[in-house]
Amino acid sequence: MFMCCLSVISSIPDSKFPCSPLTREEIENHLSTKTPYRVRQNLNEEPITFEDCQPRRIWSVIRHGTRNPGKKDIKKIKKVLGKHQGKILNNPDVQMCQKELEKMKSWYFKAQPEQEKFLVPIGEDELIELAERLQKRFPALLTEDYSQKHYLFKYTATQRTLKSAESFCTGLFGRHKLSQVLYPSPVHKDPILRFYKLCTRWKNEVDKNPEATVEVDKFIETSPLIEELLKEVRGVTQIKDLSFDDVSLMYKVCGYETAWNKYGEHSPWCNVFRTTQSLQVFEFIEDLDYYYIDGYGFEITHKQACPAIKDLFEHLEPTSTHPNATFYFTHSGTVLKLLSHLGLYKDDFVLTHNDFDKKRKFETSKIDAFASNIQFVLYECDDGEPKVLTMHQEKVVTIPGCPEDSLCKLSTLKNIFKESLECDFDGICQLNQSEESS
Ligand SMILES: *[C@@H]1O[C@H](CO)[C@@H](O)[C@H](O)[C@H]1NC(C)=O
Repeated sequence: MFMCCLSVISSIPDSKFPCSPLTREEIENHLSTKTPYRVRQNLNEEPITFEDCQPRRIWSVIRHGTRNPGKKDIKKIKKVLGKHQGKILNNPDVQMCQKELEKMKSWYFKAQPEQEKFLVPIGEDELIELAERLQKRFPALLTEDYSQKHYLFKYTATQRTLKSAESFCTGLFGRHKLSQVLYPSPVHKDPILRFYKLCTRWKNEVDKNPEATVEVDKFIETSPLIEELLKEVRGVTQIKDLSFDDVSLMYKVCGYETAWNKYGEHSPWCNVFRTTQSLQVFEFIEDLDYYYIDGYGFEITHKQACPAIKDLFEHLEPTSTHPNATFYFTHSGTVLKLLSHLGLYKDDFVLTHNDFDKKRKFETSKIDAFASNIQFVLYECDDGEPKVLTMHQEKVVTIPGCPEDSLCKLSTLKNIFKESLECDFDGICQLNQSEESS
């Protein structure tokens, strides 16, 4: 026993370097779409009441909780970072403190390729706890008794959204009642939950179009911030030929492993970063990327979300025969496109590679964390006028065109989204003549 531990300690040379000044809290706030929901959650569980009004219906879209990376990333992380781990541990000049070196020594990547994109335990907790808080806020609407007439839960044909739905239902009804819950058959390209998978034109013109990433490319190729970042990480690790891709991978793992670990420390790979600016550089790259692929960058991106908007209004309608409580478990791509369709977090400038220093509303760390969620709640009021409350990340948000700090009339909301309700999805998503013939 003594021998074992002595050898472990003595194999790492005494370091004279200080530890990274970045705290776990600081790191957790700059992880873009890998941000764990605990950073965003609202722990105030007070019921949300309005005088002379009662919450009667709810419609909600929820991103799955914290997950594993995809297969390609898992393999790359094991291979590439395994190699860099060896270099770091075998170089006495590495500028990390003793504790960071010890952590680097015991590091191995826990996710297996067979479990690609699976929801992780912390992801289950995120959904369970979210459901519990929503139920406390709307006790009469989110009853603890399940019935198919009252509740609709739907997920896409993926493990992570299925497990997210089950975790959410566990939070509402308890584990023992889970088997009572009935779900519609999941589809991979669900027309409401994942409309963009059916939008050929968006796939061609945006998702698979190199034009959509020009701003990201320009930033990476021309910004002096990238040079600074590389200099910092090459200095800390003493790996002189470290590429931008290698450093991106370190940021990625820093994100995943920090998200997975609720109580412990951040990932040892976060320690290659010594300044908040380095994290902000990656955050900016992610924001730029999502802005053009899933946000305001191209009109078609958010325009195509109209089937979800139409579904929302059908479900909120006081006279509708739809269940009163509808929850869709879906993906980042849906949440961001929906937020953009709603006009939320829209900056008054077009985001480009020059905007690192500009304060922006479109911040993926805030708006698209794991388990990000949007709710629309219909209130029936004594004045006979149905009204709607909109929430994102469990906080009230104002849809542009609705009054600030009060409920929005359903009729006002319908008027704002008049065009969306006409929703010619096939027309929006059809390829242009020229594209078809090319
Ligand atoms: C369900 O919705 C209908 C119509 O809005 C309403 O009359 C009813 O009270 C709602 N049920 C609950 C439990 O709120």
